[in-house]
Amino acid sequence: MGEVIYIKNANQVITMSGATNQPKTGSKMSEINLIEGGGVVLENDRIIFVGKDDQAEQEAKSRGSSFTILDATGKIVTPGLIDPHTHIVFAGSRERELEWRLQGVTYMDILKQGGGILSTTDATRAVTQEILIEETSKRLDRFLLYGVTTVEAKSGYGLTVEDELKQLRVARLLQEHHPVDLVSTFMGAHAIPREYKDCPDEYVRLVIEEMLPRVAGEGLAEFCDVFCEKGVFTVEQSEQILEAGKKYGLKPKIHADEIVSFGGAELAAKVGAVSADHLLKASKNGIRKLAEAGVIAVLLPGTAFFLREEPADARGLIEAGVPVALSTDRNPGSSPTESLQLIMNLACMNMRMKPAEVLVATTINAAHAIGRAKEIGSLEPGKKADLVLFDAPNYPYLQYNFGVNLVDTVIKNGKVVVREGRRI
Ligand code: NIG
Ligand code: FE
Repeated sequence: MGEVIYIKNANQVITMSGATNQPKTGSKMSEINLIEGGGVVLENDRIIFVGKDDQAEQEAKSRGSSFTILDATGKIVTPGLIDPHTHIVFAGSRERELEWRLQGVTYMDILKQGGGILSTTDATRAVTQEILIEETSKRLDRFLLYGVTTVEAKSGYGLTVEDELKQLRVARLLQEHHPVDLVSTFMGAHAIPREYKDCPDEYVRLVIEEMLPRVAGEGLAEFCDVFCEKGVFTVEQSEQILEAGKKYGLKPKIHADEIVSFGGAELAAKVGAVSADHLLKASKNGIRKLAEAGVIAVLLPGTAFFLREEPADARGLIEAGVPVALSTDRNPGSSPTESLQLIMNLACMNMRMKPAEVLVATTINAAHAIGRAKEIGSLEPGKKADLVLFDAPNYPYLQYNFGVNLVDTVIKNGKVVVREGRRI
């Protein structure tokens, strides 16, 4: 017998069951499969029972006389939250851009003038792997306190072969040493570095011919992402990079139609991307194509808020049958936050997503967006024991509160890592 934890008498257990094979779309995005007066039993790093509390108690007792009880009276239990889009491996910060932007300088103007992503690239290139680990680790600690147990992490602040590898190695080392799980994405095509300003195709060649083979050779990433945007990578360049990534076994993701309508959603459908992210300016045709191709829309309402832009058309996407996931987009320029709970509020208030849809979008659909739905994203026997107890009597209470952290307990891989809102 292993180590058993019995989570007792939760007001609501939000299971998200039954969506392991396919992400939820349309009206199914509101189906959270909730158990009132529920209990959950964990053994070692796995969930072994989810159901009514009296049955859960029997199940725990049948496993032997000693087990840990976590009393969830008055609380809700959810799967560990999943953030499917972050740029957390970086050095430095960009608070001075805030004032520039408030004076009317746009995010893209700052990038064109060599700031933005390029200034974070300077800072990231300048530090050692050890410092990057330290900085990133702090961000992962904060994610855990907000109930996030798995994050996707992109490279893209190195923009040289060695510096991209450095970022991805940091993610791999943290995957080994930090309780939060990381899923890596290679994003060498995040910006055209200054050295290639006048010959962007040369940089595309470097990404395809020199970076991709090294990244794949060291097994450093599962996904390949591109910032497909006017003034950054064209649709054609993005397609070349994503197709080349596919040859190395890297599944495509796209930063699509963030600033202008550019054909990113259409490209996501064409290359069979796992997700198309941002989509603030996605065209009607692009949305239809995403639905037809089964591409997941990863929406980032915190980024829209921070860039003072209209958010993506979440309702239109859901009604068109596109599965929606939500993310912080944690990065130093357009979304400096680890609070996926704040993103939940913004999804409701600014995109009119329903509380139930928001929970689907931050658990099972987010798991699908990073290829982990067989392991995480729902509370079902056999899945990984990643759970959160929120100090909330019902699930809409999570979205109704804003700017506060309601996490009480976080369990990661069957171990209690946050208790009463504090890291242990
Ligand atoms: O998803 N749009 C491109 N990349 C990030 C921002 C990165 C940065 O500004 O450092 C995003 O918003
Ligand atoms: Fe991003």
